Amino acid sequence: NNPPWPAYRGYHEFSFAHETMGKRLPTILGKAVDDVIKTLNEQYEEEKILDLAKCIERMQTLMDDLHKNAKLRPIIDDGEGDIPLWNKEIAKFFRGKDFMNAPWLFAEAYKYRRLHECFSISKYWKDYDVFFRQKCDTFSRSGTAVFELSTRFAEPFAYEEGASESDKLKARELLFHELTQVCLWGNATDLSLLINMTEEDIKNLQSTGGEHLAATEKNILGNHLDRLWKLVSNMKGGRIDFVLDNAGFELYCDCVYADWLIQSGIANEIHFHGKRFAWFVSDVTRKDWEWLLNSMLYGSLFPHASDAEVQSLKQMGLRWKEYERKGQWIYEQHPFWCTGYTFWSISQEAPDLFLHLAGSDLVMFKGDLNHRKLTYDCQAPSDTPFDMAIGPLASDDGAPPVASLRTIKSDVVVGVPGEVSSKLDAEEPGWRISGKYAVVLLSDGLPG
Ligand code: F6P
Ligand code: MG
Repeated sequence: NNPPWPAYRGYHEFSFAHETMGKRLPTILGKAVDDVIKTLNEQYEEEKILDLAKCIERMQTLMDDLHKNAKLRPIIDDGEGDIPLWNKEIAKFFRGKDFMNAPWLFAEAYKYRRLHECFSISKYWKDYDVFFRQKCDTFSRSGTAVFELSTRFAEPFAYEEGASESDKLKARELLFHELTQVCLWGNATDLSLLINMTEEDIKNLQSTGGEHLAATEKNILGNHLDRLWKLVSNMKGGRIDFVLDNAGFELYCDCVYADWLIQSGIANEIHFHGKRFAWFVSDVTRKDWEWLLNSMLYGSLFPHASDAEVQSLKQMGLRWKEYERKGQWIYEQHPFWCTGYTFWSISQEAPDLFLHLAGSDLVMFKGDLNHRKLTYDCQAPSDTPFDMAIGPLASDDGAPPVASLRTIKSDVVVGVPGEVSSKLDAEEPGWRISGKYAVVLLSDGLPG
């Protein structure tokens, strides 16, 4: 049940795996320690201070393990639901492996689980999220793009007066293309790559205007947008699932898209799948989900915003909360999403989750990490068809239609013609990690 190509590993110097395992992870961990020290300095109860100081010690041990490339040990049993999955995988496949020679995907995920363990075995800090401050802060510096979208989409969606049936169809198709791209490019602001972003950087990454999107469509190197529209336009009151990636602006874009999918009558139910703990820096947890919706309604994150802008954000936030109240939007977080398994193993390792997804009319996976997990993060040729690259999730009985909306930020690339990738390899080194390019790929699955 494995693809025929080798997985990327940290010692592969030609790959982003090497830079990530050797440099990026220690940097991210260092910043996380700074965050906890900040929190420590804000405490006044001795018991809590001592408990948090122990968390910092454990983070330092993890830092040493990374630096000396230690062997991977089992995760300490903190009673959480993912422990059996983790320790089974370590025992079965990766016993004796270290951070650099274990598959990159596994080793990187393992680091985030170890980071969580630093807190999960404490008394007072079990759910502490070392990246929470950073996630909130970046969103509050995203005002321009946030209001660009809210001022346009706060009012309920309506067709132009007197529009004919064919005008309406065209309008729906155009909006679908536009909002799918908003949702796609929302993935460009991932905090694990963009440490120390300026206001200007954020603005450039988040430009959502129509012209800008038309220009960026040519950067979608594997583009199944038309196929996706064909599938979606035939849906009526269906169910769509989002396997979320990043909190803040990306989540906000996902929600703007999901809002339209409901208003257009395409979907009647949207499931959002988040993470149970801080994951790959900026991924969505339940706390991030609640924070976004509540900040839209009650926050004062944007001091320079006009009354109309603030109002538009509130109006949209109110509608989103109403979807939640009515059970049309459902946030959930299965333990499987925070393991080192690729999605080639969903039906085996998390059959309940597979069955749950099998009930969906379309599962949209957001972002780079989800794409790596879909494709086994291996050295597949770039012209490998997407449904072949995702293995069982395309071919198992009951597999739902699966789409990947991903800006390319790591080595694995599939669904892209060989001549396109070789040209970029020759002319634009770094194209696989810059986030400038993207793919929107669809597998029809084998719905039962
Ligand atoms: O560090 C590895 C990685 O998966 C990169 O591929 C990517 O830069 C980042 O982490 C996560 O990106 P995303 O938030 O889009 O999954
Ligand atoms: Mg992410």
